[in-house]
Amino acid sequence: MSEKVISCLTISWALFFLPINALADKIDDKIDVLLKKMTLEEKVGQMAQITLDVVGKGKSRLESYEPFSLDTIKLEDALLNYHVGSILNTANNKARTPQVWHSIISQIQDLAMNKSHIKIPILYGIDAIHGTTYTIGGTLFPHEIALAATFNPANALNMGEVTAYETRASGIPWNFSPVLDLGLNPCFPRQFEGFGEDPYLGSVMGIQLIKGYEGINNDVSNPRKVASCIKHFLGYAVPISGKDRTPAYIPENILREYHLPAFKAAIDAGAKTIMINSGIINGIPVHCNYALLTKLLREELGFKGLVVTDWGDIENLHTRDHVASSDKEAVKMAINAGIDISMIAYNYESFCKYLVQLVNEGEVKQNRINDAVRRILRLKFELDLFEHPVTNYTDYPKFGSDEFAKYSYNAAAEAITLLKNKNEILPLIKGEKILVVGPNGNSMRSLNGGWSYSWQGEKTDTIASGQNTIFEAIEKRFGPENVSYIAGVQYDNTIEYYKETKVGFDKVFQKAQQSDVVILCLGENSYTEGPGNLNSLNLSELQIELAIEVSKAAKPVVLVLNEGRPRIIAVIEPLCNAVIQTFLPGNYGGDALASILSGDINPSGKLPYTYPKASNSLGTYFHKPSEVVKTMEGAYNYSGDFALQYPFGWGLSYTNFTYSNMKVSKTKFTKDDELLVSVDVMNVGKRIGKEVVMLYSSDIYASLTPDVKRLRRFEKIELRAGETKRISFKLTAKDLAFVNQNNKWICEPGEFKLMIDKQSISVFFE
Ligand code: BGC
Repeated sequence: MSEKVISCLTISWALFFLPINALADKIDDKIDVLLKKMTLEEKVGQMAQITLDVVGKGKSRLESYEPFSLDTIKLEDALLNYHVGSILNTANNKARTPQVWHSIISQIQDLAMNKSHIKIPILYGIDAIHGTTYTIGGTLFPHEIALAATFNPANALNMGEVTAYETRASGIPWNFSPVLDLGLNPCFPRQFEGFGEDPYLGSVMGIQLIKGYEGINNDVSNPRKVASCIKHFLGYAVPISGKDRTPAYIPENILREYHLPAFKAAIDAGAKTIMINSGIINGIPVHCNYALLTKLLREELGFKGLVVTDWGDIENLHTRDHVASSDKEAVKMAINAGIDISMIAYNYESFCKYLVQLVNEGEVKQNRINDAVRRILRLKFELDLFEHPVTNYTDYPKFGSDEFAKYSYNAAAEAITLLKNKNEILPLIKGEKILVVGPNGNSMRSLNGGWSYSWQGEKTDTIASGQNTIFEAIEKRFGPENVSYIAGVQYDNTIEYYKETKVGFDKVFQKAQQSDVVILCLGENSYTEGPGNLNSLNLSELQIELAIEVSKAAKPVVLVLNEGRPRIIAVIEPLCNAVIQTFLPGNYGGDALASILSGDINPSGKLPYTYPKASNSLGTYFHKPSEVVKTMEGAYNYSGDFALQYPFGWGLSYTNFTYSNMKVSKTKFTKDDELLVSVDVMNVGKRIGKEVVMLYSSDIYASLTPDVKRLRRFEKIELRAGETKRISFKLTAKDLAFVNQNNKWICEPGEFKLMIDKQSISVFFE
């Protein structure tokens, strides 16, 4: 370990023992000194963030030459003439090695610290949302949706810790993660980036991810921690159309009860920064919504950290949303609403010029500027950037290590969810002839999804070629003599191509006939944001045809889904003996799946969303009573209006668990009481297994029609065959409350039903 890191760690530990207030005072004093020295132009520059291509040698700001190198003239213009204080992203949408990152960021910091009048380090930010997206050789984890399926917060903590370490190994101290958007609409192209549909699950996982990123006490001066950025505040993932950055209409009580809790929990957990929703709620673009950005976020939630825009969203107020009649007015609206840093990303000159003018004209108050700059400088001090503006990869020996890979593998193994296992066809019998079919069967790209080595993840097959695809992992596990692969169809061919040539389909049929079992790997190719918009949630026609063709061979079919959101599979599900959801399980997802297929790992994932059966029947498990037409057999299997394929929380195991003896400490309670709810869980099968024990509640009557049930607590446990454990949860009236028509949290007197598995007890709030 170098002297630099040893000294950083020593400083961090010394600071750790200082009272928190003393630390804050010291930083505040330093900020005061700096603020007094800074000109208005320098302050405004701190509020500007540009993308790396802007300062790279290249034809235009949109594209740099490769290999990337900084253009000193451009860099000096941005940093010395306009005092730009923050840079984000990679150049040319390409991942770089830690060595390259170190060289780029060292040069940037050198200029900022040594050549500028004010000597303030640059705050570099990146999207490392499931591991180090933009660093080659780092550890890619499952996406958040898969972490949620583990129902094990330790996996979020592990991902946070490894990602923080490897992001700092790349010289970068600020991570635009976690995504805390509530995934209520499966069409939304960023569904996989969040923790699914449940506000409580999202809060619990989000807190752990932040702890992993920022560490105990949020001491981000530790060179192995990064500042997190919770996003996208607020209500981003629920546009009416399901398409990215299109309008959402959300009543305040809904915003508060469902969308806000994960953000509130993250703010209470000390998250350092927040990114704003690019969208529009109730006609108001969130970037100029004073009520959300200042009244709610600052005044009510008490958020003290830094507020950054999303990409180009101040300009969007003028050019896209037409609420500002000029770019200058857009700057005024956003800064006055409460924005601290503008992710500009290209035209920094006009942002800086307009903001200086607005202050001089009295349209934006000096205080607002000082307030924003104070927060930016505080973060730079907290990250220890003034003393150590860049961390060095040589101090991070565990970067890309097997130890880190194991955390990713474990998370994938706990996430992969067994949705159907007719006649216990799984685990597979050793020695069976296995045919792997489908476009997702031999692709590292589809295992990782978007935000993997590039924005859309299209480079993954090349960069992660050393890791195992599903086919490669199965081949390794079951022996090459037993396993073969045929894609059958590719995403970019048309259905007509296959129907006319029959090339793929005929071969698939023949090969399927020669095998004992078919592993049919279907789903989605990688995407995020606009490119991931859908016109239909149905699985692509091509893949449906392939599944039908495969089934004609009359061999057992295991459908392996590899997708960022639940694509409709109703037509082909009955043709499959088993169904496994892998989500986007990351670089070790193929290996984890092979372990599950072979029975070395007993599956324990549970769906963090409701899997719909038809694209016009979308809903969540916490729907209203009127949405249930008729309950069929099975836990959550409605016919008619609310047709669903699999319910939230669904997931099978190779063993069975039974629940008994549910008890609650009292049946009448007041606002001061704590209820202790307990239950026995027994593994009645033949092998060790993990189970997620979930406690739900139903408010029987309420002034607003209540949700049929809500998840209130959960715990993942492991039980040996025959073992029983008693699990207890604590609840108070606050946990059972909802937001009423006056937008206030309330627990109304009356009956509540508490439910664990099929056990239930009624309690009464007085
Ligand atoms: C995304 C953000 C991301 C930002 C920077 C935007 O397009 O919406 O989630 O952090 O780009 O890459």
